[in-house]
Amino acid sequence: MPNTQIQIFDTTLRDGEQVPGCTLNTKEKIEIARELERLGVDVMEVGFPISSPGDFESVSRISKIIKNATVCALTRAVPNDIEVAADAIKSAKRPRIHTGIGTSDSHVFNKLRTTREKVIERGVAAVKLAKKYVEDVEFYAEDAGRTDNEYLAMVIEAVIKAGATVVNIPDTTGYCLPSEYGEKIKYLQENVKGIHNTTISTHCHNDLGLATANSIMGVRNGARQIECTINGIGERAGNASLEEVVMIMRKHNDLNFDTGINTKYLSEISAIVSAKMNMPVQANKAIVGSNAFAHSSGIHQDGVIKSRDTYEIIDPEEVGALDSSIVLTARSGRAALNYRAKKLGFEFCKDELERHYQAFLNLADQKKIIQDQDLIKLFSVAATG
Ligand code: KIV
Ligand code: ZN
Repeated sequence: MPNTQIQIFDTTLRDGEQVPGCTLNTKEKIEIARELERLGVDVMEVGFPISSPGDFESVSRISKIIKNATVCALTRAVPNDIEVAADAIKSAKRPRIHTGIGTSDSHVFNKLRTTREKVIERGVAAVKLAKKYVEDVEFYAEDAGRTDNEYLAMVIEAVIKAGATVVNIPDTTGYCLPSEYGEKIKYLQENVKGIHNTTISTHCHNDLGLATANSIMGVRNGARQIECTINGIGERAGNASLEEVVMIMRKHNDLNFDTGINTKYLSEISAIVSAKMNMPVQANKAIVGSNAFAHSSGIHQDGVIKSRDTYEIIDPEEVGALDSSIVLTARSGRAALNYRAKKLGFEFCKDELERHYQAFLNLADQKKIIQDQDLIKLFSVAATG
């Protein structure tokens, strides 16, 4: 049986870009949109056009350029938002409007100060209005993660009846446990009329570090689209990270999922987004961190030198990263030192290696990381000394 295709919905240019300090100008947004298209995302959410004239302009320009991916614009369940978004994406080859409203008690009663019935009415009206402009309408139930499942099912059923093609179940506050989020998707699958003719989408935030796990539990329970961002950027602790969800599905063949992402571009796009948004990637970030393929302890280095897959489940080439690196520190062993020495053109017998290793340890205790130049100097001093 062929694997099930999971749609990758990238929201780097919307949820990611709304982070303080990450704001981009139109030119930068267009550059990233082109990179996202090259990466192979299915949908790119490129802005919230009502929010500012600059955002409207970016969405409108990107809509004219992107040919392969669906271009999506965010709105609230507010008529003017929807009309402006429709105008911004009118030139897109594959336009989508993403509209929605809060459904948790906290959103309904505290933020919107309304009733559950009125929320359903507003959601339905928003979808119906969006349908006048585009065929592809995605509905989000904001804070679905904390919305009780019975009411959520009523909302989702009503918006599907109104024409929603995709239903987004955001864990807006990153609160859900993976099992809980998976059960929510399963509950909707089993209790919402018409849901089998729509795509269920995940949109998980990372407040408890569970965004990636929750997204995967979502697709394991019937969702067919994952909303995510490059480097996991996004509101507060961020969104599910695109590179993580994609590589999980690629590495775990047993899940039987595929995506259209060309993983060889992951490292490059991560660096571009980080530079343009002025948002450093933590060194130990999965897949794209600078240490993701670096080995520093003696035991690990010895294993990797003998066979890369002893300590690496991903070939760096698969994600376009530089080769695995053996970082020489005071925790490195003789095997790593010898390996690096050979790469630099030095051949040592057992006794010579031992002598150099002791000198190397003394230096590494002072210098933390030993570079090739340090080694050349060390070996040359030993040879003349
Ligand atoms: O986190 C969220 O709920 C959102 C919606 C606007 C989709 O970003
Ligand atoms: Zn979000």
